[in-house]
Amino acid sequence: MTHGISADLLDRLASAGRVCVLTGSGVSAESGIPTFRDAQTGLWANFRPEELATADAFERNPELVWNWYQWRRDLVRMAKPNAAHEAIAEMELIFPEFSLISQNVDGLHQLAGNKKLIEFHGNILRTICSVERCEVDNFDPEAAPPACPDCGAKLRPDVVWFGEPINPEYLERAYQDSSNCQVLFTIGTSAQVQPAAGLAETALQSGACVVEINPQRTILSDRVTFHLSGAASDILPILVRKLRRSIQ
Ligand code: OAD
Repeated sequence: MTHGISADLLDRLASAGRVCVLTGSGVSAESGIPTFRDAQTGLWANFRPEELATADAFERNPELVWNWYQWRRDLVRMAKPNAAHEAIAEMELIFPEFSLISQNVDGLHQLAGNKKLIEFHGNILRTICSVERCEVDNFDPEAAPPACPDCGAKLRPDVVWFGEPINPEYLERAYQDSSNCQVLFTIGTSAQVQPAAGLAETALQSGACVVEINPQRTILSDRVTFHLSGAASDILPILVRKLRRSIQ
């Protein structure tokens, strides 16, 4: 047994037709993008969410919020997918029905090759008009924030802020996928933010096997079917290699 990857887990995966993967910021940690809640290094250890990640904060201090997102965008632009992203891209090729629901806004899953992806919290590299919500890519890069070329309203990152709803189409697909799957992976997430965290609950209630990969225990750990303790970039490549061998 390596990292808790048991023969029982491999058997369940080898016979699984429908697999759903939910990811959080821990998956991108080894790409150099900080998580949110890790003590010391997490973004929320150093910044207050209500001053930076709410519509009210943007209304109060648009320059501060825009510049904070510019700083995060620069980190994201320098980042490359790590071994965890690559293994998750391979999982999409292995399982007959697969869906990836990511809370991450960094676009690294697409870069690694995933196509069946729901960007639950948006994508930080896209910019939208705060009024019309349309995507805009021709704006003054020096302005903080720039104005919409059509209506003059402030532009903002295409991410979900605290208190904002998830795109209803994404929410419906995510609930469908998590209630229909046979196996749900919850990887690199503290499972503290709803409604994303509820997807693992949905899978558990529907009788799916739930596999958590995280170096820390979370509020879900006592109830999941398998908790694999360690970094996603260590565990996932081994898991995918073993799975490939067991289904050959
Ligand atoms: P958190 O910071 O809450 O949790 C990150 C999790 O990743 C923790 O449980 C860590 O133990 C784990 N972790 C750290 N390094 C890891 C590694 N190398 N491999 C695997 N796991 C690792 O981040 P999220 O759960 O993603 O929302 O946070 C959810 C949402 O809260 C984010 O999408 C964001 C934030 O506010 C919005 O921006 C709307």
